[in-house]
Amino acid sequence: MTVSEPTPSVIFRSEIAALPPYRQGRLAPTDGFKLSSNENPFPPLPSVLQAVADSAAQLNRYPDATALTLREHLATRFSVSAEQVMVGAGSVSLLAALIQAAAGPGDEVVYAWRSFEAYPGLVTVAGARSIQVPNRPDHGHDLGAMAAAVTARTRVVLVCSPNNPTGVTVSLSECVEFMAAVPPTVLVILDEAYVEFVCTDSAVDGRTLLGRYPNLVIMRTFSKAYGLAGLRVGYAVGPRDLLDAARSAAIPLQVTGLATAAAIASLAPDAEPELRRRVSAIAERRDRLRAGLCAHGWSIPQAEGNFLWLPTGPATTTIAEQLWQRGLIVRPFVDEGIRLTVGEEESVPLVLTALADSAPSPPPVPDAASGER
Ligand SMILES: Cc1ncc(COP(=O)(O)O)c(C=O)c1O
Repeated sequence: MTVSEPTPSVIFRSEIAALPPYRQGRLAPTDGFKLSSNENPFPPLPSVLQAVADSAAQLNRYPDATALTLREHLATRFSVSAEQVMVGAGSVSLLAALIQAAAGPGDEVVYAWRSFEAYPGLVTVAGARSIQVPNRPDHGHDLGAMAAAVTARTRVVLVCSPNNPTGVTVSLSECVEFMAAVPPTVLVILDEAYVEFVCTDSAVDGRTLLGRYPNLVIMRTFSKAYGLAGLRVGYAVGPRDLLDAARSAAIPLQVTGLATAAAIASLAPDAEPELRRRVSAIAERRDRLRAGLCAHGWSIPQAEGNFLWLPTGPATTTIAEQLWQRGLIVRPFVDEGIRLTVGEEESVPLVLTALADSAPSPPPVPDAASGER
């Protein structure tokens, strides 16, 4: 028997009280596939598991607060100094720290919509106001409209490429044009959680922009391509003063020794090629799945992450339920669409069969992959 709860009495900030608490997607049935959280379907590498096991012997100690060794590895890779790298408990915690460092009550944060579900909550928690700019008909960011939405109150702009959940990338030329239009006093965060899965040459790669802008930070993660979602480790690369502000706002000691050990082991010369092969396998599986669904009449936007966007509109809940009945757990966005993670190979024929006859007939989607706009 559980103890009954007393009547609530504590007064919270009204905007926080109005926020829905984070709810994870439904768990997969035992014989089904969880295609709802953009996780990597491959199990951890033995060398990564070994590094975690070795690190566990130090569990009585606090971790290195600045994750210096991991930052040095990443700094070498990005040709920057270790001060220009910040590591956090998932890139979502870095997003939170940067937004809190730059935006507070009365300030605005501009981002595309629909985009990563965490953005609205992070902005609200910081006390700032979200300015959501609708995506273009091809489900990509409308960077021109986003630049136009920047006002004297704007402190941060979030750019997500590939965009979660629609999968569309921002092109390099669009990004350069956008950076020229945004005042250097406004922090621009380029969220590249899925960048390793991108196959389109014209897509922006934040690494090529490093050192060019005093107001740009790129954000990446070990959760997706590197398959370490359960350990929570992400990183930001950008100008030292911006990251120093985020370091001041961040909760200290948030990245565990286990997480940094796993990340360092994942970057090792004997591990990374295999992890990259897995990423290629997922990208190939994604393209095959998209082609198969398009052959069944689905209209699916450019897909450059480890997921597909099905614009199911009003049929969303029904189709998501039909998939659930067949053991396929997806992420529905009511009346908008379904995000389907590219999971285990065995899930591919099941998805294709389950969706063979349910394609709605929306207007055709322009193919953003066909060139720069
Ligand atoms: C666009 C985007 N950014 C950031 C994250 C956060 O990833 P993590 O906190 O696991 O590094 C996610 C996770 O799904 C995401 O989709």
